[in-house]
Amino acid sequence: MTARGKKKGPSAPSGEAAVFVQTASTQMSELDRWSQVTEDEVRIVEEMTRRNELSGGTEVVREFEETWRRWIGTKYALTTANGCAALYCAYFGVGLGPGDEVICPTYTWISTIAPALLLGARPVFCESDPETLLLDPEDVRRRITPKTRAIIVVHLWGLVCDLDPIVAISRETGIPVIEDCSHGHGARYHGRMCGSIGTAGCWSLQGSKPVSAGEGGVLTTDDVECFERACLVGQVNRIKGVDLVTTKYAELQPLGLGMKFRSHPLAIGIAQVQLKKLPELNRKRRDYVEAVEAGMRDIPALKPVKLVEASERAGFYAFPIRYFPEEAANLSTESVAKALSNEGIPTQTGPYPLLHQLPLFQKGFDIFTRNRGPLCEGYKGYRDGDFPVTEKMHAHLLFLPVLSDPVLDAADRIVNALRNVIENAETLVRTEGFFTERDARKQPAIAEILGTQGFQKTSARK
Ligand SMILES: Cc1ncc(COP(=O)(O)O)c(C=O)c1O
Repeated sequence: MTARGKKKGPSAPSGEAAVFVQTASTQMSELDRWSQVTEDEVRIVEEMTRRNELSGGTEVVREFEETWRRWIGTKYALTTANGCAALYCAYFGVGLGPGDEVICPTYTWISTIAPALLLGARPVFCESDPETLLLDPEDVRRRITPKTRAIIVVHLWGLVCDLDPIVAISRETGIPVIEDCSHGHGARYHGRMCGSIGTAGCWSLQGSKPVSAGEGGVLTTDDVECFERACLVGQVNRIKGVDLVTTKYAELQPLGLGMKFRSHPLAIGIAQVQLKKLPELNRKRRDYVEAVEAGMRDIPALKPVKLVEASERAGFYAFPIRYFPEEAANLSTESVAKALSNEGIPTQTGPYPLLHQLPLFQKGFDIFTRNRGPLCEGYKGYRDGDFPVTEKMHAHLLFLPVLSDPVLDAADRIVNALRNVIENAETLVRTEGFFTERDARKQPAIAEILGTQGFQKTSARK
């Protein structure tokens, strides 16, 4: 999606961009003064480069891990090359392997589950709650089998999952919970930091995230076995005598399994600077989002996402709101997005595809060749319609721009545009070539025509 994302570079002959930069920038420069990178990031990169602090568990890396560990309130923190690597290490840490199943919301980014596949485990998707957009604990419970070896909860868009029932399931069954906090840096649940509640927490520090390293990731845990296994699988040559807590894997160190998921120190240097800016960024984004949500209160067709009790969202990786077409002359979700964009408010519909609708998970794939791996032999695959609640919810989300340092009247201007479009829904359907929900269903290519759906095509941002 384009929210805070940016695609740059020359065009290839086909018209597709040949290169792209996947970091963040404001979506509305006339309303937002924010710039992701400042002189501070430049300075630390220069200083570290001059010190040749370019590889290994350097001072900056260790300092950052210590800062993160204290911030999240866990015993251990480990940096990695990216969020996928952090998740891989967490899955490996809890002992996930071939034949196991992982329960995962179908509504998330593919990287939440990808590392589990590569460890040979099979995804079991679950529904999300249509009001919170986050995994539905009751549905998680229904999908547990004797093979379930992990539950992955995702604090999607920086919203916070209902963790109490998930933790209760984990206590009852002994199934570890991993928190994917890749969008929610600084989010809390009952006052505790997200990422400290499950067995492990994982963050992406990719360039468009609330704390960016350019590319990077972090894993946290209180579980010594999970931590030591995470060290074993990816921290080659940086662990001996420094990080290990027990002697269980000491014999295998410092090489571990010889695989490398270590972070790049320069990236962590950048993240260290960005982390200092996070509290202010979270505050400004929260104020803006809350002001728009408050302004929407008298527009029946639009509702804010419901926040889970005792949760404190953060990161604000995107700004989803729920749309009810029956309250707006059945104007289709895509048409609302298009009309808002015409009003100067860049708005998108579902930037993430539902995982069960991807060919990978519908048809399966012979990941390890010769009919081996979790998505072939015995894999039944998914079909459209398998997750009716999530599919309906997903079809009616609008993503408004996230403003990080908005000008004074920014929220009012966004709300005015929302009101204008919704109040004129009937006219838009009749006179301006926009489509109703029914039209949209009849014409599967509508998203294509409107150009608002296919984030893979239109955006540099994941
Ligand atoms: C929910 C979620 N999980 C995991 C990841 C993986 O992070 P990375 O891109 O740093 O590997 C992402 C990245 O976009 C994500 O959005």
